[in-house]
Amino acid sequence: MKIAVTGKGGSGKTTIAAGLIKLLVEKKKSVIAVDCDPDISLGLSLDFPQYAQVKPICEMKSLIAERTESDPSRPQGFFKINPQVGDIPEKFCPQDKGVRLIVMGKVNKPQGGCLCPENTFVRSLIGHLVLKEDEVVVLDMAAGSEHLGRATARGVDTFLIVTEPSKMSVETARHIQELAKGLGIAKIFFIGNKIKGQSDIDFLRAALNEGLIGTISLNRALEEARGRFIFDVNSRKEFDAVYEKISNLS
Ligand SMILES: Nc1ncnc2c1ncn2[C@@H]1O[C@H](COP(=O)(O)OP(=O)(O)O)[C@@H](O)[C@H]1O
Ligand SMILES: [Mg+2]
Repeated sequence: MKIAVTGKGGSGKTTIAAGLIKLLVEKKKSVIAVDCDPDISLGLSLDFPQYAQVKPICEMKSLIAERTESDPSRPQGFFKINPQVGDIPEKFCPQDKGVRLIVMGKVNKPQGGCLCPENTFVRSLIGHLVLKEDEVVVLDMAAGSEHLGRATARGVDTFLIVTEPSKMSVETARHIQELAKGLGIAKIFFIGNKIKGQSDIDFLRAALNEGLIGTISLNRALEEARGRFIFDVNSRKEFDAVYEKISNLS
């Protein structure tokens, strides 16, 4: 199973990704957790050991130059567009208690654009994560939809679109749904987050027609944890329900 957690900025992508990862680990799955957001935060949310020291893939300049056969001193030069990446997670990304953390980082190249060696390398990595049995990939995506393309589609089979019960958040969610359909993603689900009551659920059901597979309430424990993911009794029940739905529909 390869799940991309998407949605509007602030909707709760990192929170939902972290909660799912924690559940998956409890269920003895081995998880590859990929932080695809330039605003790196999944490691913190998971309380991954020394998360701040995990080096983003984009910053591994000499490795990228070697694998893409590019010359960093010639930004407009030729490079290989299908670099070998299969060994990267095991060699360069730390693992702790069933979770391997891959931090993609921020491609910082105004003139390089999308077609720079760093971007190509990162996209290849997403597209070529090979899973062993009982392994699950969870990608915490950047906000919005601009970055969602074929590279993401190659790497995932499930889109989990997080939305708050607001018109703006739903609009972004539906836009992502359309994109995901166009990319041929097999399973596209919505999850409502920061739900305050039944009227929020009713609003989302009406706005999304179908595909709302679960809701997570606005949760005081999460607010007080200030970015670090923790379960309380209620959120655990809600996450369990989402997990059951996803695994039954997979
Ligand atoms: N269900 C929730 N209840 C309370 N706070 C939440 C909930 N979901 C997310 N948050 C908080 O909202 C903020 C944004 O969530 P985050 O997961 O970082 O969003 P995103 O990754 O989509 O930008 C964080 O401070 C997070 O702790
Ligand atoms: Mg985030």
